[in-house]
Amino acid sequence: MHTTLDKDFWSNRYQAQDTGWDAGSITTPIKAYVDQLEDKHLKILVPGAGNSHEAEYLHQQGFTNVTVIDIVQAPLDNLKSRSPDFPEAHLLQGDFFELVGQYDLIIEQTFFCALNPSLRESYVQKVKSLLKPEGKLVGVLFCNVFLDRTEPPFGATEQQHQEYFLPHFIAKHFASCYNSIAPRQGAEWFICLIND
Ligand SMILES: C[S@@+](CC[C@H](N)C(=O)[O-])C[C@H]1O[C@@H](n2cnc3c(N)ncnc32)[C@H](O)[C@@H]1O
Repeated sequence: MHTTLDKDFWSNRYQAQDTGWDAGSITTPIKAYVDQLEDKHLKILVPGAGNSHEAEYLHQQGFTNVTVIDIVQAPLDNLKSRSPDFPEAHLLQGDFFELVGQYDLIIEQTFFCALNPSLRESYVQKVKSLLKPEGKLVGVLFCNVFLDRTEPPFGATEQQHQEYFLPHFIAKHFASCYNSIAPRQGAEWFICLIND
């Protein structure tokens, strides 16, 4: 039986400062990907963004159209206090599954694994609906670790990830991550999936 992973669950985690997932800065695989992007006007979404060091970095680097969404307000306030000029209208408190929009790039990090596994198909369909044609889902997934847990993070096997994602995207990159942050080395896959 999984814990109910609702707004209260996540809110309590932030209140208790029980946020072990927070790397404290943009992680190396996502930084390496962002650093090679040339178009600063890409419409970028970070779902389940948390304190969103990724969005902060993107903003600092001059990306002009970065939106974050989180079901809890507190981490959005934290981002705003670190980056006071981050556009208010791009800080969305709400449920990712109710978001409407069209993005060029969605960045995934410890959001897929934070969801009840019963929502994985819905996540894939929602990501697809939020991506423009040929838009990309890019980021990291816990692979072959954190299996059979009752609380997040929920990992998945390589085969499960293939079954969730590959029927719906063209995989530009879907492989073991070589530049994970130290605590996640050997535990992540890096994905760059193009909306099919
Ligand atoms: C494990 S944390 C990851 C945060 C961030 N991605 C990071 O790497 O630091 C998962 C986040 O997803 C948020 N979340 C959970 N369910 C959500 C939903 N349905 N819609 C939006 N955010 C959600 C939680 O509030 C939490 O901030």
